Amino acid sequence: MPSPAPMKPMDFRGRWVLVTGASSGLGQEMARQLARDHGANIVGVARRGDRLQARKQELRPTGVKVLTMTADLQKTEDVARRARARRQRERAARTAG
Ligand SMILES: NC(=O)c1ccc[n+]([C@@H]2O[C@H](COP(=O)([O-])OP(=O)(O)OC[C@H]3O[C@@H](n4cnc5c(N)ncnc54)[C@H](OP(=O)(O)O)[C@@H]3O)[C@@H](O)[C@H]2O)c1
Repeated sequence: MPSPAPMKPMDFRGRWVLVTGASSGLGQEMARQLARDHGANIVGVARRGDRLQARKQELRPTGVKVLTMTADLQKTEDVARRARARRQRERAARTAG
């Protein structure tokens, strides 16, 4: 039986990856590896904003962009509120030039 073809290395440079549970455990490690090893820009989501900010600082030397979204994904209104707030901030930033 022929051996399977080797996997192509993942290249996420310039692309954005949304990582839920990025404040600890598997999600935290996934965010680290995607940024450090594959050049992905990260949107990290979790409830503990302080831990998300710590990840953002940690990944600064990699040069990728990191956005954080503090939200409880069990609460639909929390997610909608966060998304609305981000859109408003972006609109304000565009208006300000
Ligand atoms: N570790 C393992 O070996 C393993 C093996 C098989 C399966 N799993 C499963 O994989 C998942 C992650 O495991 P883990 O060990 O990485 O757990 P963990 O260290 O407890 O991490 C869970 C992550 O999810 C976030 N989170 C939990 N509830 C949330 C909510 N309502 N809204 C937003 N974010 C939420 C937590 O952040 P905040 O608390 O800041 O919100 C944290 O970042 C779990 O479902 C676990 O059962 C783990």
